[in-house]
Amino acid sequence: MVVSAEGREADVLVQDERVETGSILRIEDYYGIVAYMRYREDEKIGSKQKLIASVQIFGKLTKNRLVRIKKPIPPYSKVYLAGEKELNMMLSGEKNISLGVVYGTKARALLNPAEYDRHMAILASTGAGKSYTAANLIKEYLMLSLPVLIVDTHGEYPRLLSHILKDKDIDVMVYTVKHPRSGYGELKIPVSILSPEDFGHFIYLTEPQKSALETVLDKFEKTDYMLEDIIEGTGMLSTNDFHEGTIKALKRKLISLQRTFKNVFDRYGTDITELMKPYQVTIIDASYAPAGVRQSVVSYLSHELLAGRIRHKNEMSDPIEYDLLFVVEEAHNYANSRLAHSCRFQLARIASEGRKFGIGLCVISQKPSKIDEEILSQCNTGIYMHITNPSDKDHIRRSFESINDEIIKDLDSLDVGECIIAGALNRIPFLLCSVDDIGISREEGMKFNYSRIEKTDLGDSDYV
Ligand SMILES: Nc1ncnc2c1ncn2[C@@H]1O[C@H](COP(=O)(O)OP(=O)(O)OP(=O)(O)O)[C@@H](O)[C@H]1O
Ligand SMILES: [Mg+2]
Repeated sequence: MVVSAEGREADVLVQDERVETGSILRIEDYYGIVAYMRYREDEKIGSKQKLIASVQIFGKLTKNRLVRIKKPIPPYSKVYLAGEKELNMMLSGEKNISLGVVYGTKARALLNPAEYDRHMAILASTGAGKSYTAANLIKEYLMLSLPVLIVDTHGEYPRLLSHILKDKDIDVMVYTVKHPRSGYGELKIPVSILSPEDFGHFIYLTEPQKSALETVLDKFEKTDYMLEDIIEGTGMLSTNDFHEGTIKALKRKLISLQRTFKNVFDRYGTDITELMKPYQVTIIDASYAPAGVRQSVVSYLSHELLAGRIRHKNEMSDPIEYDLLFVVEEAHNYANSRLAHSCRFQLARIASEGRKFGIGLCVISQKPSKIDEEILSQCNTGIYMHITNPSDKDHIRRSFESINDEIIKDLDSLDVGECIIAGALNRIPFLLCSVDDIGISREEGMKFNYSRIEKTDLGDSDYV
């Protein structure tokens, strides 16, 4: 029964065991979701503490459509748990994707896929199920034909996606970075993607050395130079402008870089626009590459995706053939608000301009508080899983409009594989979803389960 109502919120007296945070309720023709529950005393319900659910009302059913309400719902109305059919009707649209079921029910948690280009963020503590959720999301988009590009920091997606896509007609392409493996493609990047600051992530450069490097880079007219050309270019630096020691030290440091970037650089870089095809997922497995190289890879991919499309739009008369989804795992390594690497700026550009060019960005992270607020606030859909860290919660509260404080408080109570989806992909304000299991686990079964190494009893005899 509704105890009180104000605006689009209602307090409901709960008498059914099955009602929990995230349950969807029907109140006459209105529908709402339980955002929060607490025990409370109230003169209307008697002096004993009773369980009260704070319900966010998201609409009234009118001619099979949910319309927003303009006044509070009537008090003392009777309240029911919404059934599967109702949930289906409420959540479905012309096209649907789904990551799992509505929590506590068998109804699919249907989402509106058309909003992917307003970007998404999957945020949770480590082990909460982010990669599983992302794999489900990627599968759903692939089935709708959207090309997907993933920067895979741990090298887990080839296994996850081949498993989840095993009966589906989808191509899974894997590109390695730095360490070639047979059967896989190799991603190459051009050295021109590195800004003078980026060089500083691999080799410490003093201010005069940085300025000498900038002078060399400025001399190149095209972007097809190689690291060798830069090294050679240091020979052209004038000792009138730079100290001889500076030039020598810069050259020495650049030579040492050749090792770090062995197998990574080539003159033009892999043409990634060629990699993106409908019904195809391209995984960039950067797990063997050092962090600095991974950052350069993200920088290159982000730059190329956007630049390729801008070029196409300006130079070609035909429209861009297809949109795409760009998934960045461990995004705090690339979008950290304190990071001066170009990858952060390139990602911020995709976040702010990608939409116009049909690029959807999906950032995944277990350290939301480290991600640039600019980038997070461009993500109109948040998929939140188990989070305990208060500073992460605070950051989420600041970056996303679509989530209220009560939900954030409750993020600790989510189990592995449970998520709250709020924002553009969702047709209702938020939804508690149990994500589909993929059915492969890490090598958890191995923990504390190693067999003892056999020792041979030598008796009294010694080896001679
Ligand atoms: N939807 C799910 N249903 C059942 N089990 C799940 C689900 N999601 C995740 N798990 C379990 O939790 C484990 C960790 O999941 P996952 O690798 O997706 O977490 P993560 O948040 O990406 O972790 P990390 O921070 O290490 O990247 C999985 O190996 C699996 O056993
Ligand atoms: Mg993961």
